[in-house]
Amino acid sequence: MVRIKTKIAFLCSACGDDFPKWNGQCPSCKEWGTLSEFKVSAKKNGRNHEPRESKSLSDVLTADSGKRIPTGLKEADRVLGGGLLSGSLILLGGSPGVGKSTLALHICTGIKRKALYISAEESEEQVALRARRLNIKPDQLYLSSENELDGIISHIERIKPELVIIDSVQTVMNSSLDSLPGSPSQIRDCGQRFLEVSKQKNITILIVGHVTKDGSIAGPKMLEHMVDTVLYMEGDDRYDHRILRSAKNRFGATHEVGIFIMDEDGLREVANPSEMFLAERSVNIPGTSIYPSLEGTRPILVEVQALVSNANFGTPQRNVNGFDYKRLGMLIAVLEKRMGLAMGTKDVFVNLVGGLRVDDPAADLSIICSAASSTMDKPIGEDVVLLGEVGLAGEVRSINRLEQRLQEAATLGFKRAIVPSASVNDRVKKIKIDLHPVKTVKDAFKVLFN
Ligand code: TYD
Ligand code: MG
Repeated sequence: MVRIKTKIAFLCSACGDDFPKWNGQCPSCKEWGTLSEFKVSAKKNGRNHEPRESKSLSDVLTADSGKRIPTGLKEADRVLGGGLLSGSLILLGGSPGVGKSTLALHICTGIKRKALYISAEESEEQVALRARRLNIKPDQLYLSSENELDGIISHIERIKPELVIIDSVQTVMNSSLDSLPGSPSQIRDCGQRFLEVSKQKNITILIVGHVTKDGSIAGPKMLEHMVDTVLYMEGDDRYDHRILRSAKNRFGATHEVGIFIMDEDGLREVANPSEMFLAERSVNIPGTSIYPSLEGTRPILVEVQALVSNANFGTPQRNVNGFDYKRLGMLIAVLEKRMGLAMGTKDVFVNLVGGLRVDDPAADLSIICSAASSTMDKPIGEDVVLLGEVGLAGEVRSINRLEQRLQEAATLGFKRAIVPSASVNDRVKKIKIDLHPVKTVKDAFKVLFN
């Protein structure tokens, strides 16, 4: 009988480092209470290692290097930086039911190449049923519900696909480790093996990962360091649209977004998101204004709504959806101190319509003017867009990419734009929209409310 000697180690779920003894605080990343015990089998340590040869730079690059495989979804291609890159490892995170498996299946069909879908979470039949629902006939798609790491790798070796989907990493396990699937040690080990396989065999592996309550991908942070690209799919039960974002991309720009609508037969691309976000906009109601946001390189017009009312209780409420809460507090203070509006006894509610989330200071002017519009009960014109960062002195500061944002507003028929005067240049002046350059919030109020 062969006896596999096991030794105990402690793995940090935050940074993924392991240590021979337990500590309350991780010696490496200094997080508290993140170390958990796991068993390392001696066999694993004895894995014999063949040294890899080194190559000259010219041997490394072939004619195919850097070629992208289009996914069949323009929205996904943009986020990926032009399509799937061979030999890359991609992590796709998102809350349950957001549409990760659906997107993965769309990509499998869209690439029109051999793909292997490992559905460790669902049976082959369930995946096939979903494919039928999506009305796609993937002829080069192979399905397997294998959840053992070595089994998966032997499938990959046999089928030789160009794309592998692992759905999800939390359900895959290496049976030589003595821990449950989804534990930090399992995720780390499986991630490492998938990395090896993708680089050695030059295939793209897309790993689906669950997210924790706070929205980050469950498992060791190290998984995110290992992969080339981290994508997040966001969305909310209340809305049909889904947003795909890249949080990390070694081969493309981050902060690009792809926008989809989830309907009965799967994900549909949204070519013009501004129209979608403005579809139900309210006009001539005090407290609403339009702000041209920028997601990656893409301008999207959003409606900002504010409601200011007298507080019924001692402490007034401040509530915000889609924008930074503290920044809202700052803007309210500017309204009070610089503009002389008494906000101390008012409840303030701010909402970016459509569930979009922005952390762009260029939204400040739209938010502060919406709040003022609600307070004074004077509507903002329906053909105006507002842009500008607001400083503590009540000044309107310059913002980035004004030209692109205004171009989108002009295309959608907006006639006037209130913009920071410091951002206006000759290219901006050429856009077919009436510019009102302002230096302070006071100037903006004069244009809007007088
Ligand atoms: P799914 O891709 O299984 O989500 P995840 O893998 O992220 O958990 O999608 C599940 C949700 O999407 C489910 O609530 C049903 C809905 N859905 C549609 O609305 N239309 C469709 O065509 C499909 C396949 C799913
Ligand atoms: Mg799924």
